[in-house]
Amino acid sequence: MIVAHTFEEARHARGEGRVGLVPTMGALHAGHRSLLDAAVRSADRVMASIFVNPLQFNDPADLEKYPRTLDADLEICREAGVDVVFAPGPDVMYPRPPLTSVVVSRVADFMEGPHRPGHFAGVATVVAKLFAGLQPDMAFFGRKDAQQLAIIRTMAADLDFPVTVVGCPTLRSPEGLALSSRNVFLSEVERVRALGLSRGLMRAADAVEEGIRDAGVLISAARSEMDGLDVEYVELASQQDASPLSVLDRPAFLAVAAFAGAIRLIDNVAFDVIDGRFSPDRGIRVAG
Ligand code: PAF
Repeated sequence: MIVAHTFEEARHARGEGRVGLVPTMGALHAGHRSLLDAAVRSADRVMASIFVNPLQFNDPADLEKYPRTLDADLEICREAGVDVVFAPGPDVMYPRPPLTSVVVSRVADFMEGPHRPGHFAGVATVVAKLFAGLQPDMAFFGRKDAQQLAIIRTMAADLDFPVTVVGCPTLRSPEGLALSSRNVFLSEVERVRALGLSRGLMRAADAVEEGIRDAGVLISAARSEMDGLDVEYVELASQQDASPLSVLDRPAFLAVAAFAGAIRLIDNVAFDVIDGRFSPDRGIRVAG
């Protein structure tokens, strides 16, 4: 496995065949490992990027305390069979404060957008730089960040990046908690409370399987499990452009953002159309 620190080194190490990229901010966990595994299965060569992107943090304290675990991350990449890790420093990614920003309008206007001003422009800008600088054929992202996924798909299409964007299922703890690098900050009490997010989403998924299509009813079903949480929003949104839906009538996701104590978490359940029926993607529960 080659560890590259500049775009040029990474491109040089890229090799022949179809390249799959897994962009990350490090602090890798089993959810990231499943993205790396998906890339290894689908591509000839696999690149992972590890970069804590300052542009997407609206709170400097959050950036400061974001977990940084490079040695353990490299080990996970090695075990997964990654060929090249691109781990640039901030000076390589942003040699000067960038004057160009990629703003995906409308898709960024809902849910996370108003709560995290500038966040999605930071994400779209860094992912556009990774696509331009590393030139992957495929890129793998978790469905847990469903709105981010919609933004990246829109950005890649609008800017004609020749990359296939692949969304991969959310990994969950055995109790249902969506895996996230932020989970390390949860106290025992907060962790128990945090289970309300996935319980609520699973209840709504049950309701969809029972034939309920009204967003208000689905949202109330989800909220009924979220008593111990400080809920910012529960929304049904289109997978394509993240716009709010009042009825489940197209591929969609039910998303929640809530504080478990001091820790802000997001989660969602996607509703895909398979054989003409709405099928919830509840994620995958993993041991450990
Ligand atoms: O999902 C993440 O970890 C980040 O938002 C991403 C896509 C790596 C961009 O920094």
